[in-house]
Amino acid sequence: MANKQLTQAKKAKKDEFYTQLEDIEAELKHYKKHFEGKTVLCNCDDPRMSHFFYYFVLNFHLLGLKKLITTCYKSQDPDLPSENTTQHAVYLVYEGEDIGMPPNPNIAGLVHPLKGDGDFRSEECIEFLKEADIVVTNPPFSLFREYVAQLIKYQKEFIIIGHQNAITYKEIFPLILQEKLWLGYGFRGGAGFFINHLYEDYAVASSHKEGMIRVSGVTWFTNLDIQKRHEELILYKKYSPEEYPHYDNYDAINVDKTADIPCDYDEAMGVPITYLDKHNPNQFEIIGATESEGKGFSAGLWDASSKVSQPVVNGKRVYKRIFIRKHK
Ligand SMILES: C[S@@+](CC[C@H](N)C(=O)[O-])C[C@H]1O[C@@H](n2cnc3c(N)ncnc32)[C@H](O)[C@@H]1O
Repeated sequence: MANKQLTQAKKAKKDEFYTQLEDIEAELKHYKKHFEGKTVLCNCDDPRMSHFFYYFVLNFHLLGLKKLITTCYKSQDPDLPSENTTQHAVYLVYEGEDIGMPPNPNIAGLVHPLKGDGDFRSEECIEFLKEADIVVTNPPFSLFREYVAQLIKYQKEFIIIGHQNAITYKEIFPLILQEKLWLGYGFRGGAGFFINHLYEDYAVASSHKEGMIRVSGVTWFTNLDIQKRHEELILYKKYSPEEYPHYDNYDAINVDKTADIPCDYDEAMGVPITYLDKHNPNQFEIIGATESEGKGFSAGLWDASSKVSQPVVNGKRVYKRIFIRKHK
């Protein structure tokens, strides 16, 4: 296989992680109030194997859903592996009928072929997107930027899985700044187990699960209101210039741990990216991030004459940061 094809195949393999029902349940239990009367779209999901589809069929009446639509992708490139079981991309529209237990959309005759390959960007899939209120899925990580851009363009509500590296993508971070996207509850310990028969299992012995691949750094992204956004961080530390030195190259103080954010400091503070997991927009405002993450990200806090975009404390480079400020 030529180099380019190999890279593509590798990418596609990384996109083939199948989410477990228990992880979907653990996250979605926090969003129940949002689903009443809504149409849900899972647009990276083969209804014959997706646990997102199972979850919404099993909870269709409990959540008071109006409609569930799923569409799945069939790669047209024979060199790209896909675990989808048939040659066709398919769609399904479900409106609460009895399709057995466990749900069997094949038997119920609900699965129909799509005209194209089921790419979420295709015209027929966009028509489904327009009809949907909330999009819920684990999309291909390699297309995360395009995937989110499309959700924003069509002003959809969403609950989706992505890698936390995406937080500082130049297409994603501005959405976080504008409070158009935030983190959901996430996976226990920051790692999720996904079903993936194509991929080697990198899990260390202590965290191995038969037939599963462990992916660290995955999380949920959403724009739906959840309780955790209203919970205030309880802070007890007092500011002192010794404990919280000012950066050499940013107009902010350095805070190494979210729990150590001083409760009595009103100006800009650089905090670890993991702070976002605890962000309450009524308590703190997100101002930006270090320029090492993207040009212009620091909203004027950077001293460009330093020519060093990584944050520096007393001559020592430290890890990338997000800048926050207490709400006045
Ligand atoms: C990370 S997997 C998750 C599958 C399923 N949503 C789940 O969570 O179990 C991403 C899925 O997106 C599919 N996919 C890849 N490229 C796609 C595209 N352009 N449009 C729609 N789906 C795509 C892959 O085939 C894969 O099944």
